[in-house]
Amino acid sequence: MRTLFIGRQLILLDVVDSTNNYAAMMLNTAKLSEGAVIMAQEQTAGRGQRGTVWQANPGENLTFSIVLKPDFLAVKEQFLLSQIVALAVYDTVAEFCGDVQIKWPNDVLAGKKKIAGILIENNISGERISSCIAGIGLNVNQQQFPDEIPATSLMQCTKQTVDRDAVLEKICSHLEKWYLALRNGKKTEIRQAYLQHLLFLGKPAQFRVEEIRFTGIITGIDESGRLKVTNDKGESACYDVKEISLLI
Ligand code: BTN
Repeated sequence: MRTLFIGRQLILLDVVDSTNNYAAMMLNTAKLSEGAVIMAQEQTAGRGQRGTVWQANPGENLTFSIVLKPDFLAVKEQFLLSQIVALAVYDTVAEFCGDVQIKWPNDVLAGKKKIAGILIENNISGERISSCIAGIGLNVNQQQFPDEIPATSLMQCTKQTVDRDAVLEKICSHLEKWYLALRNGKKTEIRQAYLQHLLFLGKPAQFRVEEIRFTGIITGIDESGRLKVTNDKGESACYDVKEISLLI
């Protein structure tokens, strides 16, 4: 791995419940250096955001977790971690696919279909983030997906089998670039880059809040990562992940 620290410690597993669970257990019991990657060929209980399940055909995709120790970051700035991981996955996917976008908070889409999901789990100690487990599921060589989810893969973009190790290295290297930018205080640049790739920014889109559907426009993201939406009556509000769904 041609990186400084992300992916230098690599733990490869055949089967595990969830690489995020495994990383959390290892953080408590063993030495994990910053940037450690835990990767599995198969997850039996892969977890998604909002308590959903992450399904991926064994051996065809990338399912892994990266451990960070961003103790320089205040708790109220934790959304920056979601942003840099989404940007690293975005940069990687954009090397293979056209029409790549980030769907708030941190899904990556290609041609409006989901290609990657990210589950960030932070450990807080006092005002700081002592560790962060960034779980990434990226569809690489899978060709078929359940009908209910509009999904795609790198193979569907390129019409070729894609080398999963090479993709992992690209993600690690892009993440290292963004993580070092964060550590160097380049927060404005990170927020700008994220907004630049955000699906439906400034465009009318359909939302659902408490079973009510409405049309609104995403005007930005606040510091804590909430989505700022203005509805068609001109009223603005900020929503966190549990409160709003963006319908595509
Ligand atoms: C989502 O889109 O809802 C997030 C999906 C995150 C899936 C990855 S796969 C590796 C890591 N381990 C897990 O259990 N989940 C994440």
